[in-house]
Amino acid sequence: MVYAAILGYGTVGSGVAHVLEENRDMINKKAGEAISVRYILDLRDFPGDPNEDKVVHDFDIILHDPEVSVICETMGGLEPAYTFSRKALLAGKSVCTSNKELVAAHGPELLQLARENNCNYLFEASVGGGIPIIRPMNYSLTAEKIDGITGILNGTTNYILTKMKREGADFATVLKEAQEKGYAEKNPEADVEGHDACRKIAILSSLMLGKTVHYEDIYTEGITQITVEDFRYAKELERTVKLLAISKLTDEGCFVMVAPFLISNTNPLHGIHDVYNAVFVHSNMLGDSMYYGKGAGKLPTASAVVSDVVDCARHQGKTVMCFWDAEEVKPIDYRTVVRRFFVRADSRELEETKAREVFGEIAVIRLADKPQEYGFVTPPMAEQAFAERRDGLKGILGRIRLED
Ligand code: HSE
Repeated sequence: MVYAAILGYGTVGSGVAHVLEENRDMINKKAGEAISVRYILDLRDFPGDPNEDKVVHDFDIILHDPEVSVICETMGGLEPAYTFSRKALLAGKSVCTSNKELVAAHGPELLQLARENNCNYLFEASVGGGIPIIRPMNYSLTAEKIDGITGILNGTTNYILTKMKREGADFATVLKEAQEKGYAEKNPEADVEGHDACRKIAILSSLMLGKTVHYEDIYTEGITQITVEDFRYAKELERTVKLLAISKLTDEGCFVMVAPFLISNTNPLHGIHDVYNAVFVHSNMLGDSMYYGKGAGKLPTASAVVSDVVDCARHQGKTVMCFWDAEEVKPIDYRTVVRRFFVRADSRELEETKAREVFGEIAVIRLADKPQEYGFVTPPMAEQAFAERRDGLKGILGRIRLED
């Protein structure tokens, strides 16, 4: 018997209990022995809940129970999740987490602790919710040199952008509706400003490189400046707007960025709608591969946590290999990267001839009912060169980077 404890009986934590119960026989068979939840740690009580007798309020009860060998950390946030995870690993108890904030901030240290104590720190649920992406990178793609990851890694923003595109509604209206339906948090900043996707691409970049990319070093923009007009121009260009998290190995180093991009209709990420996530991976032998599914939500995320619990049951006393060292890698300066830019301009303030003079051979697009403005696509240029040309120019209403 493998005894487990769940830290945090919220959406994901209660999902873990549900998945373990619902698929019990099959999970036990795959794990090689029965898995039983002995404790649930939460500040609250849950009268009437089928697991109410398992609820404890003191982490030390779990820590000091020698029979508990696996901890599901579904609390979120840095503290007390960090302290509890450290203590558990030091005691030789494996930790399975959905906490991308903690993994991005302390992943290598916790992995090292797991190695030193012959247990595991597993984090499949921290990126892409229920989509298997950590395990493919650690197991299935071990014969590959991965050199590029491009993901739609945030369900909330993908939902908002999908609605804006389909309904022609503006950002604020769609966000409000998403909050009312419970799809977006009351404080949506982490999602809409790109911070959530930033932490996820920091984790994936670190796994790609086997070294640490700090999320603080990743240039990040959210979707709050995206307009309905942007989608109309995008349609004319046979493109759409997506919040992408990109990590690419170049001759100069690793380029990592989170920002909205205009992607072409032929890009495989073009068809990822609503709250779905997808991760597009490029590696040197396989070429392209893509991982798609529900990037958030109770049961998909809980399923990924439980898959880690099964892995722990299969590898008791043994640390599953994970190549992620504490050595830091600084991403290259994003301003040196050459690309094309889509620009929206006010025709009364920036005439087309002036735009051509400043940016070179631009491709202009006009919307029939918007004579006071136009859009254009620049020739390829470094981000720094684009910024210098844009600075001081009046009449620029917005810009979005292009990605093919
Ligand atoms: N807020 C996240 C999202 C949840 O919208 O994708 C999963 O990390």
